[in-house]
Amino acid sequence: MASGAIIEIQDLKKTYRLGGVDVPALRGVSLSIAAGEFIAVLGPSGSGKSTLFHIIGGMLAPSSGSVQVAGLELSSLSDSQRTDLRKTTVGFVFQRFNLLPTLNAEENIRIAQHVAGLAGTNEKHFDHVIRILGIAHRLRHKPYALSGGEQQRVAIARALVNKPRIVLADEPTGNLDSENSLAVLDALKSLNEKIGQTVLMITHDSEAADYCARRVVRMNDGRIV
Ligand SMILES: Nc1ncnc2c1ncn2[C@@H]1O[C@H](COP(=O)(O)OP(=O)(O)OP(=O)(O)O)[C@@H](O)[C@H]1O
Ligand SMILES: [Mg+2]
Repeated sequence: MASGAIIEIQDLKKTYRLGGVDVPALRGVSLSIAAGEFIAVLGPSGSGKSTLFHIIGGMLAPSSGSVQVAGLELSSLSDSQRTDLRKTTVGFVFQRFNLLPTLNAEENIRIAQHVAGLAGTNEKHFDHVIRILGIAHRLRHKPYALSGGEQQRVAIARALVNKPRIVLADEPTGNLDSENSLAVLDALKSLNEKIGQTVLMITHDSEAADYCARRVVRMNDGRIV
């Protein structure tokens, strides 16, 4: 692994098989991401961005190639080691917010602490995260009573609350208006700058990419171009 790299991807390929037809989604992607970087992956629909996101997150197995996250080769991990990595080292932000409808905002955030066995361990960080995301006054609201932008900010708080070393965000502003997009980008940017979290943000919005990322990588047709 290159010195300082927290994510190291080599010649990654993924071909989906659907109804007997091969659909190549990644055709050999290599990428090295240094600890503390804010990198944006930009590309048109269907270029393989979410596929890359799911593989780096250990949610999807590649067809070939290697992915190391925080020094661990994903293909050599057991299921429980992979789950541990997802609980403690990587925080995920999905395009669809995936909040649990019966829990309020605070409970939706705290569930990440409980799952990782970190409940009550870092209240200062919890307070910091909800403050920079501007959701302190909405903690008692259930998802149906939150705006789309607020729901996404709660989902981001959930991804950040355990202070993961790596934040993976797939189109975090995809469903948001410009004001909410800015709030989300500012929060990601601020945590990257303040606590050195590595952020990999997938987007098709080049303005969002340029606004916060120090490096922008472009994908097209399963390759980095
Ligand atoms: N489960 C699947 N089975 C078969 N093909 C798939 C599957 N998931 C994705 N694909 C195909 O793989 C290619 C890459 O998809 P992917 O979701 O990675 O694109 P994307 O860059 O995230 O696009 P978008 O910007 O629309 O989210 C597309 O051609 C898609 O149709
Ligand atoms: Mg996608």
